[in-house]
Amino acid sequence: MRIIEANNYQEMSNLAAEYIIKKIHHTPQMNLGLATGSTPLGTYSEMIEDYEKNRTSYAHVRTINLDEYVGLETNHPNSYKYFMKENLFDHINIAEGHTHIPNGTASNIEKECQAYEDLIKNQGGIDLQILGIGNNGHIGFNEPGTSFESKTHKVKLAESTRIANARFFNSIQEVPTHAITMGISTILKSKEILLLVSREEKNEAVKQLLNGPKNENFPASVLNTHQNVTIIGDKKALAGIT
Ligand code: GLP
Repeated sequence: MRIIEANNYQEMSNLAAEYIIKKIHHTPQMNLGLATGSTPLGTYSEMIEDYEKNRTSYAHVRTINLDEYVGLETNHPNSYKYFMKENLFDHINIAEGHTHIPNGTASNIEKECQAYEDLIKNQGGIDLQILGIGNNGHIGFNEPGTSFESKTHKVKLAESTRIANARFFNSIQEVPTHAITMGISTILKSKEILLLVSREEKNEAVKQLLNGPKNENFPASVLNTHQNVTIIGDKKALAGIT
């Protein structure tokens, strides 16, 4: 595992965007796994700026998002589909048909999960997966206790995750109770993983990831078994880590 320390959030975002853009230049038809949450927002905004300045092309890139809430229409401002359009897709030259996010309003969620797993496989797998981390160690929406063998599946969100994500909604009652997420084994099949960590509140989670045992009660600990993981974090998130 490689760790790159940035002085602050902005520098972390610059480094992460540079990292991703370099990969796109190298492999213009790459399959790029994307994450939501507040951590990658600065990275996406740097990618947009680079697109405007340098015209890095996304014409042949395919994106595959980690997760989506169950029950939110795609035009709901808190759906991850909306988040991705608003914060990245609408500002770069990517065709909508090249962007993939689980459909949280599918009539048959189990079938949708299987279809999403098949789609990732049929696209040739994920070349680079961007990840954030939840305070409880979740990756995607794989909450503590999720099997390391899991594939794309429906999850019941931990109450701590609903509380953490309530800041984006008007009230906790509005936060969906379930989501679709790539499973741990799905994420682990990515050829490369880039984990972004920012802010003091993530420091404990990063320490546990690096020093704690590999354990399903802390989903991110599985990343220690992957051959190609890079963490880019700011000083606050990486404090005390050598
Ligand atoms: C959500 C997402 C995760 C994300 C996590 C951390 O629950 N499903 O993919 O990593 O939140 O979010 P933030 O970056 O806002 O701390």
